[in-house]
Amino acid sequence: MTKDVRRKLAAARVGEIPPGAWKVIQYVSDEGEEKEMVLFNLDGRYYAIDNICPHGAFRLSNGLLEGEGVICPGHGWLFSVRDGRCMSREFEPVTTYRVEVSGDIIEIVYSETDEQ
Ligand code: FES
Repeated sequence: MTKDVRRKLAAARVGEIPPGAWKVIQYVSDEGEEKEMVLFNLDGRYYAIDNICPHGAFRLSNGLLEGEGVICPGHGWLFSVRDGRCMSREFEPVTTYRVEVSGDIIEIVYSETDEQ
């Protein structure tokens, strides 16, 4: 049986990422896989997405912010950092993660699949 297990990652301190900037968060999944998310500060609100573009193996953190979107360095498509949707064309979204602020710590909530 598989079950989703919720995880929380302490990603940054409040004030560490200025508005319009972002930080790459590296972590190791329960299966030992190295993964990356990107935590963005958009006008004082924080958003987290997967760092790998769903269209190819390019890191979105190597792109540029344009409004609420990040421009993928691969083919220039724009992905919303708020909800992950591809704003350039019909295409699958990039994975988004919930962000919570607890005191002065910014946490990213994600889930792992647990095989039982
Ligand atoms: S790899 Fe990102 S748009 Fe093609």
